[in-house]
Amino acid sequence: MLDFKKQLSSLASAAAEEKFPGCGLDSDTVFEMLEYPPDTTMGDVALPCFKLSRTLRKAPPMIAKELCEAISGKGEGVVSSVTADGGYLNFKISHDYLVKNVLLAIEEKGDMYGSTGSGIGKTVVLDYSSPNISKPFHIGHLGTTVIGHSLKLLHQFEGFKCIGVNHLGDWGTQNGKQIVAFKRWGDREKVEREGIDALVELYVKFHAEAELDPSLNDEARAEFKKLEEHDPENIALWKWFIEVSFKEYEVTYNQLGISFDSYNGESFYTDKMQEQIDKLRDMDLLKLDDGASIVDLEEYGMPPCLILKRDGTTLYPTRDIAAAVYRKRTYDFDKCIYVTSNGQTLHFAQWFKVVEMMGYDWADKLVHVPYGTVSIGGEKLATRTGNVILLKDLFRQAIDKVTELMDEKNPDLPDKDAVAEAVGVGAVVFHYLYNNRTRDINFILENALSFEGSTGPYAQYTYARTCSILEKAGELDFGEVVITAEEEADVLKTLNRFPEKVLDAINEYEPSIITRYIIDLCTAFNRFYHNCPIISAEDEAVRNTRLRLTAATRTVLGRALSLICMKAPSKI
Ligand code: ARG
Repeated sequence: MLDFKKQLSSLASAAAEEKFPGCGLDSDTVFEMLEYPPDTTMGDVALPCFKLSRTLRKAPPMIAKELCEAISGKGEGVVSSVTADGGYLNFKISHDYLVKNVLLAIEEKGDMYGSTGSGIGKTVVLDYSSPNISKPFHIGHLGTTVIGHSLKLLHQFEGFKCIGVNHLGDWGTQNGKQIVAFKRWGDREKVEREGIDALVELYVKFHAEAELDPSLNDEARAEFKKLEEHDPENIALWKWFIEVSFKEYEVTYNQLGISFDSYNGESFYTDKMQEQIDKLRDMDLLKLDDGASIVDLEEYGMPPCLILKRDGTTLYPTRDIAAAVYRKRTYDFDKCIYVTSNGQTLHFAQWFKVVEMMGYDWADKLVHVPYGTVSIGGEKLATRTGNVILLKDLFRQAIDKVTELMDEKNPDLPDKDAVAEAVGVGAVVFHYLYNNRTRDINFILENALSFEGSTGPYAQYTYARTCSILEKAGELDFGEVVITAEEEADVLKTLNRFPEKVLDAINEYEPSIITRYIIDLCTAFNRFYHNCPIISAEDEAVRNTRLRLTAATRTVLGRALSLICMKAPSKI
């Protein structure tokens, strides 16, 4: 619709100049005012004239009427009708336009249709997933991992150069706790055998014991300090914990088809913090507070940002500041995006402010993208108490349920295991990314796995349907295009909205815009499929047109699914 809306905007702006000379209503202003009417029988795009009545000194319905007069007969090949209704000017998109600018455009650009290339020449760093080592990959990581990766794919599609960073939580007192727990109660063989589960068990035990004996916390701090001072025993343990953890994370990343361009975690910045600490001190931004070094942010309505603890050790914000400077120098980013739970919103607001106070003129290029919490059956999850649902378990459960269903319905499906994984994992991802990211969600696996409604399986099934129609039909004939049914035009209108959805999703850091769009496209396609015979259409031109609509849907649906980390099997 982007291009259609642009064309309408110049038509309406010219009409305004004709009817109201000197009114200065330029096409950019009109563009911003355009809306999609909820009921498309009125029009595909509407211009509400209410805001214009002040400047034009006329009632909105009159403005709409006069603009309508001035436009009628114009915009041939673009607009099929323009009508005034109350204070609205309604436009319908012409079939000609849909064929040329949508169907033929998709056939020409293939799965690059939808990219406007606005990111070409720009670089984006995306910091996402970033689990804390020795802790499990649980459902709370689903958000940062799939929102982050989807944002990377969207930016890449739009032409940005992207660097995905897994900012591993591999440096902090939690590593001290882990070391204490292992030294006190650990068993090397058990960890080798059970992997991260054994590490988690130790972590949970540490917290339970520290409740009874708080001095364990001091011991953990001391062990971390030793780690910072490169104590060989602690360094060796720490490296081993990372290795064990990674074996586990990799399983989930592989299922999601995710890899990173950099695994520089918090520890990577140990030798890069001093420069920033010195700079803060030189600029007189550091204050002593009860022995700790802080940056006072009272003026900005925020609690102070902690830079050094009383014992001189660094903190989470210290490392983030050093990491941002490193990334700017290394990648010269135009945007650096951080995807974390909304529990960290204050942390990011604080250190972004500190970076600004330090005079780094790229501080406004740092973007925090927060998301809401996930619960299962209404229960909040936390590693400390052991009340966690592991992502791999959730995926496993989903895959098993899909396998069961397939054994029953389609036992001879080729490549059944791969398809079951794509559908099971995809169902979880889709269900999650369907929600506006800032909302808290309660995850219900049964709903995610349904083949009906707004679900991943429904979308993948629709994709497989387009594939099977095209396979049955054989060669496509690219002859004359004839649009004979509203359902056909609706499919094209929905396809026409894809480029705008991509831009909206990027600008709002909101993959759910694509997820919801996928459902709109599936709904339009399935209505067309149920009401219009495709392969069995009698007229040759009608049949060809419908097949080409099916192919265009397959192209865009496949691309859209891939943008939200979903696989699209051709048979289910
Ligand atoms: N490891 C952190 C956590 O699990 C997330 C890190 C986010 N990235 C960052 N640069 N702070 O909570």
